[in-house]
Amino acid sequence: MPRLGEPLPHIQASGCVYLDYNATTPIFPEAADEMRPFLTAFGNPSSAHAFGRPCKAAVDAARARVAAMVGADPDEIFFTSCGSESDNWAIWGAVMEARRQQRAAPDTSGAAAFLPHVVSSRIEHPAVIECLAMLAAQGLLEYTLVPVSCEGLVRVADVEAAMTPHTCLLTFMHSNNEVGSIQPVAQLAALARRAGALMHCDAAQSLGKVDVDVQQLGVDMLTVVAHKFGGPKGVAALYVRRGVRLERLLCGGGQEGGRRAGTENVVLVAGLGKAAELVSRELPATAAHMAAMRDSLQQQLLAGLPPSTALIHGPADDALRLPNTLSIGIRGIAAARLLAELSEQLAASAGAACHSGGGHGVSAVLQAMAVPTEHAVGTLRLSTGRHTTQQDVDRAAALILDYVQRHGGSS
Ligand SMILES: Cc1ncc(COP(=O)(O)O)c(C=O)c1O
Repeated sequence: MPRLGEPLPHIQASGCVYLDYNATTPIFPEAADEMRPFLTAFGNPSSAHAFGRPCKAAVDAARARVAAMVGADPDEIFFTSCGSESDNWAIWGAVMEARRQQRAAPDTSGAAAFLPHVVSSRIEHPAVIECLAMLAAQGLLEYTLVPVSCEGLVRVADVEAAMTPHTCLLTFMHSNNEVGSIQPVAQLAALARRAGALMHCDAAQSLGKVDVDVQQLGVDMLTVVAHKFGGPKGVAALYVRRGVRLERLLCGGGQEGGRRAGTENVVLVAGLGKAAELVSRELPATAAHMAAMRDSLQQQLLAGLPPSTALIHGPADDALRLPNTLSIGIRGIAAARLLAELSEQLAASAGAACHSGGGHGVSAVLQAMAVPTEHAVGTLRLSTGRHTTQQDVDRAAALILDYVQRHGGSS
């Protein structure tokens, strides 16, 4: 098996440098090995017989591994189909529970019914922002999106000011997928607790890169996405603190403790569990490797680009930036054209790949950070990972610098 910092043979053989780990990661060979037996071991984990039992054991083992990764207990981990489902469930569940509590409350002398209120930020993933917008359009909630600083950081005071007596939920990402800014989640969770609201955190981009512990953060719910840290696509989890009531999103059978219906996808869940175990074991070394590769890339680009053409987006303080993420705006080029021309040699993103849809609009995250348009249009998101090598970053830097030399000011 290739170790930390060694290339994966199938990526190397492609001849294309992969610097898009924030979009998705190659599956760990060890995670693939863990999944393989369950392609044929077909029992239903809810069946108590000889076919079901090994599948239940695999699901239980994965639950324990995911719980250990985030500092939770296994009965607080619920498997879902993707990060978007986990985010949607956290929001829907908290808001529907707030509405239920309102209906159950004794009649308060004819006081007008109110809508539950949610606070989030302008740089959340669409799985949060679109969900809030849809539920608001259906008349089920009200919400406020707070602005961010030019470094992509939420200010706790802005969140406090946005809260109303009806705020039932704060939902903030642990770190941003485009610029890597790490948010003050523990402080936001403390704010939520003081106000009697719930705190949900989308940790999709942070797991496997920085320490994420639900006890230290004090969050009530946390989104875990397998394919962002070496697990398979199409499987995720939601941590729900014991005692937190959450309306179900999927109703049906009694799987997942009766809180999320649907027969568990044993193959994918097993892969998620193995990836969770691996990243927990190797986190400090992996983070140091990713940062070394990212920093080398950043230095090479800054040294090679004409003076004052480049802008690094995100926090200047490296402790507040994901160790693997480099968002760089290069004035005078269009990042989408660069990536199209180099698509066989360099895999990276111009925005958030998982929702870019081929559009060329300036990313909402860069807009929220007030990045000048000419730098936003030329912004590349380069994200390193466990298998990135020095040769990868040297080649990527050379490709980008060569492109800028040929097209700078004209593309
Ligand atoms: C921060 C964040 N949240 C949620 C998601 C959605 O995950 P999925 O594609 O598994 O639904 C992503 C994917 O890019 C993400 O970056």
